[in-house]
Amino acid sequence: MALPTSSVITLHINGERHTLPVDHRTTLLDALRERLDLTGTKKGCDQGQCGACTVLVDGRRTVACLQFAVAAEGREITTIEGVADGERLHPVQQAFLELDGYQCGYCTPGQICSAIGVLAEHAAGWPSAVSADVRPAAGPPPLTAEEIRERMSGNLCRCAAYTSIVEAVGRAAASTPAARTDAGPQTKEPAA
Ligand code: FES
Ligand code: FES
Repeated sequence: MALPTSSVITLHINGERHTLPVDHRTTLLDALRERLDLTGTKKGCDQGQCGACTVLVDGRRTVACLQFAVAAEGREITTIEGVADGERLHPVQQAFLELDGYQCGYCTPGQICSAIGVLAEHAAGWPSAVSADVRPAAGPPPLTAEEIRERMSGNLCRCAAYTSIVEAVGRAAASTPAARTDAGPQTKEPAA
């Protein structure tokens, strides 16, 4: 008997539930863009190299082109469309806007989602490859420009707006209460 190659899944995205049939080979990126019209998440390389497709899955940054949609079922997914709090921009969005952390803007949704993940990882005490002291007792290292560059190194910008991006992440870090580093609404239970 042939095994099924498609399933009906329910994705929890930006506080809403979306039920859709998908081929098992459909990536989360293609499900977002092609099936759900959430085109804020961008496709660059489609092979995990550029970071343009970065979203948050259960608060952790993830390249959506390398995750199958079926594997994201039941997880809380936050895309760029869901990081603001109503009309109030997320502090990372605000900092990118104030400091021109972009030029063409194509990489920007991924940069912003990644930066939100960076702030959460840093607040949790995670060291990076350039942290001088990686012992847990050392606590989070200062979020210097070098730390930001390393932590954001998976997000490429073809316009090379890196100087402003690093400044924007630094400003957001200075202004972001820890509570707002876990962006995105939780999916509401549907009304009975
Ligand atoms: S499109 Fe996913 S990492 Fe480039
Ligand atoms: S702003 Fe153009 S690719 Fe980054």
